[in-house]
Amino acid sequence: MGTRESLTVVDNRTGKSYEIPIADGAIRAMDLRQIKSGAEDFGLLAYDPAFTNTASTRSTITFIDGDKGLLWYRGYPIEQLAEKTSFLEVAYLLLRGELPTARALEEFTWEITHHTWVHENVKKFMDGFHHDAHPMGMLISTVAALSTFYPDAKAAQDAGQRDLQIYRLVAKMPTIAAFAYRHILGQAYAYPDNDLSYVGNFLNMLFKTTELKYKPEPAIERALDVLFILHADHEQNCSANAMRSVGSSGVDPYSAVAAAAAALYGPLHGGANEAVLRMLRSIATPSRIPEFIRQVKGGEAKLMGFGHRVYKNYDPRAKIIKKMADEVFAVTRPSPLGGIARELEKIALEDEYFVSRKLYPNVDFYSGLIYEALGFPVEMFPVLFAIPRTVGWLAQWQEMVGDPEQKIARPRQLYTGYARRDVVPMDRR
Ligand code: CMC
Repeated sequence: MGTRESLTVVDNRTGKSYEIPIADGAIRAMDLRQIKSGAEDFGLLAYDPAFTNTASTRSTITFIDGDKGLLWYRGYPIEQLAEKTSFLEVAYLLLRGELPTARALEEFTWEITHHTWVHENVKKFMDGFHHDAHPMGMLISTVAALSTFYPDAKAAQDAGQRDLQIYRLVAKMPTIAAFAYRHILGQAYAYPDNDLSYVGNFLNMLFKTTELKYKPEPAIERALDVLFILHADHEQNCSANAMRSVGSSGVDPYSAVAAAAAALYGPLHGGANEAVLRMLRSIATPSRIPEFIRQVKGGEAKLMGFGHRVYKNYDPRAKIIKKMADEVFAVTRPSPLGGIARELEKIALEDEYFVSRKLYPNVDFYSGLIYEALGFPVEMFPVLFAIPRTVGWLAQWQEMVGDPEQKIARPRQLYTGYARRDVVPMDRR
C-alpha cells in the first residue's frame, strides 16, 4: 500500500492516468483542469451546486464537526464561551484570533462604545420607511446606506481602515436594529447610552421610555449576551459565503454586510427563527401536532428549526438555548408555545422520518421562544440574529482580504442552453 498523499485518476475516455495531490483532505479543483478528452476540450470541472462538498477557503476562525455536534470559535468550545465570556470578548476573539486581556477588552469595548451613534441623516432616511416595513429590510438597506457616509471604507486593503470600519459596523448594527424596531412601533428613537454594556445599551435603545436612565434587567441582559455569543459565527454558511463572495469584488464592508444580511433574511437561514414561531402559532395546540407531523412527512410542510446542512446531530447551540429558555421564562413568563415546541421535538426525535434523515433541532428552534418572551415581535427575530453575526461576517471578510489565495469569487457553469443560433426577424418568429 502506497502512502503518497495523492489521488490517481484514470480517465476512461482516453486511458490516461493523472496523479492529483491531496492536501488537508482535499484536492484542488484546478488540478482537474488538466484532464481533457482531446486537444479542444476545456478540461474537467467539478460540478457542485450549493457547494455541498466544496471548500471555498482555508479558515482559522470556526470549527464545526457536524456528526459529533461540535462548534468551536478559534479552538474554544461554544459551551465554555457561552458560560465564561461576554459577547464583546467573543467578538474580539473572532476578529483578532485570541481572547483579550482585561486591558485589550477595555480598549476594544471603548472603541465599540464610541461608534454607536449614527449620523442624523440615517434617522431621517429610516423615517422614510413605511410604518409596517419589515425591520430586516430596514436593517439591510440602512447598513448599505452607511457606505455613503463612509467613503473611506473603500480602502479595504488598509488594515487601519478595516479596523475602523469593523468598529463602526459592530457598534452601529444594534443602533440601526433598535431604530428599526422603534420605527415599526411609531416611537421616537432612543439614543445610545455609553454607560451601558453592548447588550444593555441595545435594550436601552429598544425599550427606554420616560425613565431618565434605563436599567437593563441583569438576567435578560445576560440571556441576550449568550444568544449573541451563540450566533456570532458559523463558518461558511450562506450569509458568510455572501459576505466573502461580495467582499471579494473589493467593495466596502457596509455593502458586503448588507449582502450578507440579505442572505440571512431567507427562511432557510436566519429567517428560520421567525418561521419557527409562526409555525408554532399556527399549530397552536398540542392536539394538532400529529396532523402537522403528518403534513411534514407528506412533504406539505417543513418542520422549521429542524435540520442542518452540516449538523447531523443535535446542534450544540440549540442545547444551550433550550436550557437557557427555562431561566428566561423564570424572569419573564412561561411561553405558551414552549409546551408545543417540546412536544414537537420529542415526537420528531423518535419518529423514523426525522431519525433516518438525522434531523435534529437547530439554533432557531428555541431562540424564537426566548425572543418572544423578551417582548420582541417575530419580525425582529432575524434582526437579532444579524447583530451578532455581523462580527462573524467581518472576521470572515477580514480573513478573506488577507488571504493571498483569494481572488474575486467567480464560479463556473455547465452550459445547458441552445447551441449558437441566428436571430429570426420579428415577422417570422
Ligand atoms: N422538515 C422536514 N424535512 C426536512 C427538514 C425539515 N426541517 N429539513 C430537511 N428535511 C428533509 C428533506 O426533505 C430531505 O428529505 P428527502 O431525503 O426525503 O428528500 C432530507 O431531510 C435532507 O434535507 P435537505 O433539504 O437535502 O438538507 P439541506 O442540507 O439541503 O437543508 C436546511 C438544510 C437547514 C435548509 C433544511 O434542513 C431546512 O430547510 N430546515 C428548516 C429551516 C431551518 O430551520 N433553517 C435554519 C438552519 S440553522 C440556522 C441558520 O442557518 O441560519
